[in-house]
Amino acid sequence: MTVEQGSQASLDFLQDELRVLKEVGLHRRLVVVEAFRGPYVTVGGEEYLSFCSNNYLGLAGHPRIKEAAREAIAMYGWGAGASRLVSGTGVLHERLESEIARFKSTEAALVFPTGYMANLGAICALVGRGDLIICDRFSHASIIDASRQSGADLRVFGHNDVKALDRMLRRATNYKKILIVTDGVFSVDGDIAPIPEIVSVAQKFGPQVMIMVDDAHGTGVFGRGGRGLLEHFGLKGGVDIQMGTLSKALGGIGGFVAGTRELVDYLKNRSRSFIFTTAIPPAACAAGLEALRLIDGDEGLERRERLWRNCRYLEKGLNAIGFGMTVQSPIIAVVLGEPQRALDASKTLFGKKLLLPAIRPPTVPRGTSRLRISLTSDHSEEHLDLLLEGLKVTRRRQKGEAI
Ligand SMILES: Cc1ncc(COP(=O)(O)O)c(C=O)c1O
Repeated sequence: MTVEQGSQASLDFLQDELRVLKEVGLHRRLVVVEAFRGPYVTVGGEEYLSFCSNNYLGLAGHPRIKEAAREAIAMYGWGAGASRLVSGTGVLHERLESEIARFKSTEAALVFPTGYMANLGAICALVGRGDLIICDRFSHASIIDASRQSGADLRVFGHNDVKALDRMLRRATNYKKILIVTDGVFSVDGDIAPIPEIVSVAQKFGPQVMIMVDDAHGTGVFGRGGRGLLEHFGLKGGVDIQMGTLSKALGGIGGFVAGTRELVDYLKNRSRSFIFTTAIPPAACAAGLEALRLIDGDEGLERRERLWRNCRYLEKGLNAIGFGMTVQSPIIAVVLGEPQRALDASKTLFGKKLLLPAIRPPTVPRGTSRLRISLTSDHSEEHLDLLLEGLKVTRRRQKGEAI
């Protein structure tokens, strides 16, 4: 037997796994996008209006950001070369971290190649065997994966159920350290966590309890200055670890953790996803810095206002066609049930030149497959009307009416 035959046979189980995924409507396929132009994307030579990007402020294609990245590539090249602890940290890494710390009103910040790695690096460094992590049932996959990998015990409370959190903390008497982690904006439902209530419950239980907020979807979007959910709630303290990402409203790539100087120094020494991986490219830092400048200025404010106007407009329209809902963020979930329903809805919209993929398990719990709408400041009312027109078909199908 040749080596190739041997390895092929050992992968035979993949055919069965893939067949099952296809049978239950859970097989995923990548859509190739040939071009991006504002909220439009080109797929198969045709232009589609996209409602599935986390580029909430339309910064991913902003000329100032593209120029900042180009200049950084000209000056520093593309790759960082190695881990920052090995090849040296770039001036742009340092500059970005001090800007993030200023933006988030913390002493310091540490940048990771992605938000996923920021969660992984922080959680696994802060807690381990003998400790406890408590998180929301709808926490992002990166929080769950990090929690499992950390070796700490993991308890999950009902979605946004602060009373359940309180009960769990009362029972957790034998732990050296307890880490409460919550998403700020929940990534598939788009609702927001009751952070002030979480903080006041946690504060009753002493200094062994730490609070971490993943503000991936809040950063740039919430608060007058776009500083995220802590600004939105007017919270000045109480959250020990603020995680965020440069990949959503900031339109780029890279994750970060912001907090005290000791926290950041400790993470530099203990976060495996910071230490054992190549640093984020300097040009991504330059793009992140320019995005922060934009978010902080009049243009950022104006883009945020447009985004929130879009949220209110779509909320009104969705309610008018019978999808009763309150919109809390630019992420809007139209829950349809079984995977096939979401796939059919997505296909119908695709036929109308609207790109809105079906979100299915394991991303969401069984029976809650959905269309997940992401709005951006680049959408106009005409764009939203086109979406609402397309969704009327989905609504009629949901009610069992003939189309
Ligand atoms: C709540 C939340 N946290 C973390 C991440 C990971 O961020 P990134 O895409 O920058 O890795 C995501 C991304 O989808 C997210 O939704």
